[in-house]
Order: sequence, then C-alpha cells, then structure tokens
Amino acid sequence: MSQLDELQKRKTFGIISHPDAGKTTLTEKLLLFGGAIQSAGAVKSNKIKKTATSDFMEIEKQRGISVATSVMSFEYLGKLINILDTPGHKDFAEDTYRTLTAVDSVIMVVDSVKGVEAQTRRLMEVCAMRKTPVIVFINKMDREGRDPFDLLDEIEKELKIRVRPLSFPINRGSLFKGVYNLHKKYLNLFKPSTTKIADEIMQITDIHDPELEKEIGEKDAAQLREDAETVEVVYDNFDINEYLKGNLAPVFFGSAVNNFGVQELLETFIEIAPTPRGRETDVRFVEPEEKKMTGFIFKIHANLDPKHRDRIAFMRIVSGKFERHTYYHHVRLDKNFRFSTPVTFMAQSKNIVDEAYPGDVVGLYDTGNFKIGDVLTEGENFQIRGIPSFSPEIFKELINTDPMKSKQLEKGIAQLTDEGVAQLFTQQPGNRKYVGTVGELQFEVIQYRLLHEYGASCRFQPINMTRACWLRSEDEQKLQDFIRFKQTNIVQDKDGHMVYLAPSDWFLKMERENNPAIEFHFNSEFKTEMV
Ligand code: G4P
Repeated sequence: MSQLDELQKRKTFGIISHPDAGKTTLTEKLLLFGGAIQSAGAVKSNKIKKTATSDFMEIEKQRGISVATSVMSFEYLGKLINILDTPGHKDFAEDTYRTLTAVDSVIMVVDSVKGVEAQTRRLMEVCAMRKTPVIVFINKMDREGRDPFDLLDEIEKELKIRVRPLSFPINRGSLFKGVYNLHKKYLNLFKPSTTKIADEIMQITDIHDPELEKEIGEKDAAQLREDAETVEVVYDNFDINEYLKGNLAPVFFGSAVNNFGVQELLETFIEIAPTPRGRETDVRFVEPEEKKMTGFIFKIHANLDPKHRDRIAFMRIVSGKFERHTYYHHVRLDKNFRFSTPVTFMAQSKNIVDEAYPGDVVGLYDTGNFKIGDVLTEGENFQIRGIPSFSPEIFKELINTDPMKSKQLEKGIAQLTDEGVAQLFTQQPGNRKYVGTVGELQFEVIQYRLLHEYGASCRFQPINMTRACWLRSEDEQKLQDFIRFKQTNIVQDKDGHMVYLAPSDWFLKMERENNPAIEFHFNSEFKTEMV
C-alpha cells in the first residue's frame, strides 16, 4: 500500500468528556464494534478510579496500566481508527490538553442529565484553539435527562460552537424509544442491551410515513415530526466543510452503556472525520503527504515502579513513514537517534512496530532525551506549533530541605517538568522556584519522585497565586517597566519567557486596565485565548 493510501486510511481522534459522562464506556463500545476487544471491561479496568483520588501511588499504578490503552487502534469499514486515550481524572487535565495536540478530531461526550460541565468547557477551549473538528454524542438518553433543544442550546452557548443534530431522540428516560436519523432518514428503535453490538435500524425515509405511528405510537410520532421540523427551521443544513473547519459540531443522541447510537456515531465518524492533518511549524507547514518523516512528542510516561524505571515517549507521526532501526534527527538536541523497539499498545499488549504512518502514535523507549514538544525529522530544523503550555491552576514554591542535594533537586525538577508532570517557573534574582499544576496530586508525585529517583528532598509551600499570564508587548520599554515594577509577581518559564503570576482574577483585571500596552496571555503561544 502506498504512503498516500496508508494516510487516507487513517483517522486519529480522542474522546473527551467531563468525568462520568461515559467516555470509558463509549471507548469500549467503539473497540467492541471494531473487534479490537472481545468483551466489555477491558478498558474499564484501566480507568483511574474515583475512589483512589487520595492515593497517588495507587493512581500511578492504574496510570501505568492505562499506558496500555494510550492508543487503541482498530479497523472498521476499511479505515484504521486510532483512538488516543485521555485521562478522565481532573488532576491529569494537562495530559489531556497535550493529547489533544496529537489528534485530528474529537468526539465529545455530554451527559444528557448534567449537560455541559466544567471539564467539557475547558477541553472545548483547547479544541477551539486548534480548530479541531468535534462530533458531540449526548449520552445517557435512557436517563431522565434534559430537553434535547435545551441541551443543544447550552452546548452552542457554553462551548461556543454551532451545532447541527443529525439524529433526534424520541422521548427520554424510561419512555426513551430511540432516535430518528435526520440525515440518513431511518428510525433506530431503542432496546436496552449491554451485549448486542449492532443497532437494528428501520428505514423510514419519509417521516410522515404512517409506519412511524405503528412503531412509536401516535403521540411520539407527532412530537418527532414537530421536533424534526423545528430542527430544519432552527439549524442550518449540515455542512461538512464547516465541521472540518471546527465551526460546526454534528450532534448524535444515544446510550453508550446500552450500545445504542454507537454504530450510527461510528459510521458517520468514518464518513466525515478528517484524515491525518499536517502541522504548523515555526518555519513552514508540514503536509502529511511529504515523503520525509516528521513526528513530535506529546506525552511522556515514566514508570514509577523502581523495578521497571522506563520512560516511554509518545510520538505522533505527522508526515512520511517512520521506520524502525532508522536514524532520525532530534531537532532540539541536534543529534541523531534510532529506535530498535518502537511500540504500539493495545489492550495490555505491546507490539513492536516496523513502520508507522501519519496519524499513528509510536511509543519510544527513552532514557531522558525527550521532552514534550520535541521534534524528530529527517534533518530539517523546526518546532511544531500548537503545543503550548496552559496556565496552571495551583502554584507552590519548591523549598529545598536538604541543601547538600541542591544539584540533584535542580536536575530532578528540570527533568520532571520536561516530562510534563508540572510547569516550572523561576524568579530572578533569587532563583526561587515555583511549581504550577492543575491538580494537588502532582505535588505528591513530584515530592515522591524527587526523593526516590534523584535523592533530593523538598517540600511545597503554598503561594497566593492563581493564574500564569505570558507577557508580550509591542512597546519593549513599557514591558520592561512593568517587569521591574511587578518584580515580586514576575517569573520566567522554562523557555525563558516572561510570565506574570496573578494573585487573583481581580488583580489581573486591574493590571490589564492599568497597563493597556501589555498583553496578558493564558497560554505560551498567544494564538487564541483560554479564558
Ligand atoms: P467516564 O469515562 O466519562 O468517567 O464515564 P464512564 O464511561 O466510566 O461512565 C460513568 C458511569 O455512567 C458508569 O456507571 C457507566 O456505566 C454509566 N453510563 C455510561 N453510559 C451510560 C448510559 O448510556 N446510560 C446510563 N444510564 N449510564 C451510563 P458507574 O456506576 O460509575 O460504573 P459501572 O459500575 O456501571 O461500570
């Protein structure tokens, strides 16, 4: 098969949701459909359990297992689907943001009872930054959920994306009868089942067909016709180009745990989701069809088990063909590396890959040469854009409690932050170090790892900061003045960028008002804003 055929065969995406909306269940059902797993439970057992929130070693153990499901691939209707797993646990949100840099589209799961939740909002902001195409799956229709039109309105308003329902539910909760596919004009009747895989659909090409009454009763048929009409009036027709540009999200309704609506979702996904896309760099746009290999590291997993202290760097292939035993150019280190055991993962088993194509993710064993965002090429030098750091939510000062080990501490914290465990900000003069994360758990992880891997002991002192803002200004003098006046709040990130740590949103608002010449950005790439 030619490189182009391989490319056109692939679809790489992520499933995202607020915890508990049904991401794991849907992932599992998609794998069942694709024949990648034989029974339900294989993915579920890898899920980081809610009950384990206070015990990070337990979570790490589970995270170790979940490396196996980092990328789940299967073939369906002639396409090769790569699902990139995103941790549902809030404290690992940063991992999820980074994984989103490696996908070409997403399926967003929304709970029909709860509607749009906090984590959904954040994740959608990341998708919007990169204009990632989104399909929405409104799950748990078997529950007494909210009115579908209200949910659609909420998604449009809160997630700031236009929506277009492609199917519409017939009643909900205990009266849920199924969905009518507005796009393909068929009726899919709901029969709760956790084992049956495929949906049994009934072709009713004309919604006014009296067959509809026979199937769902007079009242529901009348309601469905009214709803379908409202959809036609209120929403624009589905335009695939608008979807591919990330402006319009098609919406499906279903019940993942009952396998309902999953086939419909998957088939539409195969039809409309983008094939692997290229990536912008600081020099030029890299097209996936290019002959030469380009890939970037978006995730590093370190095994905390002292008996197996290996690190795996996950690389997304952007262009060309990746081959085992071949030398590639590590742009940041300006060195060549080859890999004798690149792996793919699936349901607990690791397989060595000989070649991989754009859209694929390979795991590279690493002894400390990689950091997030690193690029491998066949000689060219550039940095991939669109892998920014986002403002952390919790900040603490790193205090060295063993002055004899300060070298180890410096090295350890630098390496751990390269892996993406947390972000490191340094204040000059004084060399004070602040660590920023999205979850409390990371502080425990860092403290533990510094001690066990680097022999350095530390403690964390809470500081009164809530936001990191990357600074920029057209007026260099004004920027320098601001940096001088606000010295106690100014730090540098790992790449030497100037960052203002805001004690509160109110302070930030004040600073913005008082310093109109200064731009305050919530991510390090300044393209679009996370607010
Ligand atoms: P997450 O990965 O997004 O966190 O969610 P997950 O799939 O684990 O689903 C969260 C809970 O919602 C699970 O119940 C799951 O069974 C349930 N669920 C998923 N889809 C549906 C659906 O369509 N309808 C209904 N009614 N429930 C659904 P749990 O009690 O937490 O776990 P379990 O013991 O059932 O496995």
